[in-house]
Amino acid sequence: MLKVKEEELEKIKSECNNCKKCSLGITRTNIVFSDGNPNAKILLIGEAPGADEDATGTPFVGRAGKLLTKLIEECGMLRKNDFYICNTVKCRPPENRVPTDEEKELCKNYLLNQIKIVQPKVIVLCGATSAKSFLGNKIKISQIRGQWYKLFNNIDATVIFHPSYLLRNHSEAEGSPRWLTKQDLYKIKDFVS
Ligand code: URA
Repeated sequence: MLKVKEEELEKIKSECNNCKKCSLGITRTNIVFSDGNPNAKILLIGEAPGADEDATGTPFVGRAGKLLTKLIEECGMLRKNDFYICNTVKCRPPENRVPTDEEKELCKNYLLNQIKIVQPKVIVLCGATSAKSFLGNKIKISQIRGQWYKLFNNIDATVIFHPSYLLRNHSEAEGSPRWLTKQDLYKIKDFVS
């Protein structure tokens, strides 16, 4: 089973490696396809690769990624086993700008195919860019984080703050963005266990 999934994911990955549908395909060093476990119950979608991710080809390996990993572990989960991690676009936008709607749209089929193959129990939309991709551009992250939704094939989805935002908000006091994110991660853990 795992072998079939891995082979199917490899096929999409090689399509991405050849992709020049938008200008990000010209400026990227590496595509950033995924990290984690293709059999995980939790599929997390971030915004876009940054400089560290572009250099390594792995999502969430920079400062924000390290914070995400730490929060996941503090809530009793393991990023490597419990999560399959990807982004709304596979290539780094220059100067870390937010990917445009057009770039996200051109990249979306790759992401939808990853979701179809992985078949997670829950999709975690991490940050506003990711949430907007699935819930529409009108959302306000502070109003919808922690809420649960049903996406396309009835897959459950929830929204958490992006770790880059948490890097600018150090407090861990009750009610703080970091504290709220940990509550959200505990709920996600309960949901899949
Ligand atoms: N931020 C993201 O949204 N994704 C990454 O892969 C890294 C940083």
